[in-house]
Formats: sequence, C-alpha cells, structure tokens
Amino acid sequence: MINDTISIKVNKISQSRINDIDWDNLPFGREFSDHMLEMNYADGKWQDPEIKPFADLQMHPATSAIHYGQSIFEGMKANRSDDGNIFLFRPDMNAKRFAESCERMCMPIIPEDVFVDLVRKIVEIDAEWVPRKKGYSLYIRPFLFATDEFIGIKPSDTYKFLIFTCPVGVYYSNPVNVKIEEFYTRASQGGVGKAKTAGNYAASLYPAKKGKEEGFDQLIWTDGIEHKYIEESGTMNVVFEIDGKLITPAEDSDTILCGITKRSVVEVANSLNIPIEERKITVEEVVTALKEGRVTDAFGAGTAATIAPIAKIGFRGELFEIPLQPRTSSTRIKAHLDDLKAGRIEDSFNWLVRV
Ligand code: PLP
Ligand code: COI
Repeated sequence: MINDTISIKVNKISQSRINDIDWDNLPFGREFSDHMLEMNYADGKWQDPEIKPFADLQMHPATSAIHYGQSIFEGMKANRSDDGNIFLFRPDMNAKRFAESCERMCMPIIPEDVFVDLVRKIVEIDAEWVPRKKGYSLYIRPFLFATDEFIGIKPSDTYKFLIFTCPVGVYYSNPVNVKIEEFYTRASQGGVGKAKTAGNYAASLYPAKKGKEEGFDQLIWTDGIEHKYIEESGTMNVVFEIDGKLITPAEDSDTILCGITKRSVVEVANSLNIPIEERKITVEEVVTALKEGRVTDAFGAGTAATIAPIAKIGFRGELFEIPLQPRTSSTRIKAHLDDLKAGRIEDSFNWLVRV
C-alpha cells in the first residue's frame, strides 16, 4: 500500500544486470536500472501501479502521444551520502512541477504525495544502482504520455505514467560554450515553455544543431517577441556574475522552466550572503559587460547539468571568453550543494528525502 488508496504490485527481475555496468565510466542516460514503475490512467482514474522488470513498451501505431505530443517528463536525482544513505533532492518540487505540466497539457494530475512515494519506491527497489563514486548519481525519469489509440485532436482519455532510473556520470564533461540565439524561439508568452513537455525539446533541436555547426554546445534562448531578454539554455537555467553580483532571469513569464537547481542556487547564495538577483536581464546588458570584461562568472544550473561553467559566449559572430578562475561564488555554491547532498553538512533547508 503506497497510501490509503493505492497499492503497488512488485514483480522483480530474476537476474540483475548490475554486474554488466562499468561503474567507473558511466555515460549520461545510456545505462538503465533493473526495474521500472508503471501506472496507467483509464476509466477516469489512476489504476494501481506496478513495479516490473525494465523492458520495451508495446504501442499501437495510433498512440496519440506519438502524433500529437501530449507527453511530459521530470528529471531528478538520488544521491548516496558519504555514510551510505540514499536521498532524493527536493522531490516535492518535481512533483509540483509535474502537476503543473499535467495541467497545462490537459493530462490527469498525480497527487504530489503519491508522485513522491512512487519515486521513493522505485529508487528503493533499485537502491544498489545508486552509484557510490563521487560526482555520480541515480538519474530518475518520471514521464507521462497519452495512450488513446485514436486519430483526432483532443485530450486523450488514457495515459501511461512510467518511472525508470539510470546511474549517471556528468552530463557536460567540460565547460560549455553557448550562443545567444536571436532568431529562433524556444517559447513564447502563452505557449508551453514553462511545462516540461517533450515538444519543447523537439523544437529546440534544429536551432541547437545550427549552433553546433558554429561550435556551440548549447544556445541561450531569448524572449520570443523582441529577442531582447535572456531566458534560459536548452538543458539548464543560466546565471551570470556581473560587477560582483549574481543575476539570473526571473521566472515571471510562462516561457522559462522553473528550475529546481536554479531555485536552490538562489537559496544557497542567500544563505551564504552571496549577492544574487532574479530579474529581467537584457542581452545588451550581458554583451556590454562581456565586452568590458565585467562578467566574472557564468554557469548553467540543472539537474543533469548540475552547476555547469560557461566558458565562452557567442553573440553576432563575436566570441567572448570568461576566465574559468577564480569563479568564487559558483564554486562556493556548488561545494555547498555537493556537501549537502553528501550529508557532510546539515540539511538546514530540509531538502533531502531519505529513501
Ligand atoms: N531549463 C530546461 C529547459 C531544462 O530542461 C532543465 C532541466 O530540467 C532546466 C532548465 C533545469 O531545471 P532543473 O534544475 O529542475 O533540472
Ligand atoms: C534534466 O536536467 O533533468 C533534464 O531534463 C535535462 C535533460 C537534458 C537531461
């Protein structure tokens, strides 16, 4: 029983694949733990969840998510602390964002406490898959998609919710080079940019490919109306240090994904008395500061990306390099987050949930 109303069936694998993994060289997102959790929505309600061996799915060719994109996901991590316990990092925030994505995409909401319980359960079953190596984690991918076998545009009546997990290393192994994008648009006011929905990522592939041809790992998206304001990057929120102060775009529009890592960066910075401001940031302000050498730090913040230093920023054919040292503020914030997740300092924010 996961709560008063949902019972969970567990069907374990007969032979674990855990010994096939090269634990010292984990790429991101290519190794999958033994089990997955599945919960279907039909007849107007959630059916009982089941934990089963990780396996292929069988799908009808008219499965509506494939055609019309009613599909959302979350990305979160479990870490092993120095003393061997396993903790989720702020799973309530993922549960809340997932519910908000459900609402925006006309999908049935999973109660937030149930979402967190299901995540705990799948991590508990595959606890041995949580890496022990420093800097490695168990990446958790909850996702929900429409399963009506139907050709026509309407919210599906049936859905499949799944959670699988992957032991992972770093997403970006080197500091990233990004280009400020002024032509293509990731999200527009009134659109779905704030939802973690599959189509946002599909739409970003072509502009990101063009950026890659110019040597950039990622784009920094700007607003869809004037391309005047900095928004975020494709896999992470962005933070700059200008004149000794950290600044990051405010989430007051519905075009930016409200990142849990970015929120944590802001809260840690505040607690360490590192000045940080969330506000509108113009491209001009950043580019002028880059030209004048006043940008002393820039980084992305995301679950997969963690705190990813930005080494170079491209704008209108010019490339600006930001020194990788000393980067005192982001180094302190990253160390604080790492220490917290490893249980080396007290979890004074109450962010960790023990599995
Ligand atoms: N922005 C986008 C577009 C993302 O895909 C992500 C990653 O999930 C983030 C920001 C960072 O969000 P979080 O820190 O919650 O992982
Ligand atoms: C995450 O950070 O969890 C994301 O969803 C980003 C994705 C590129 C892995």
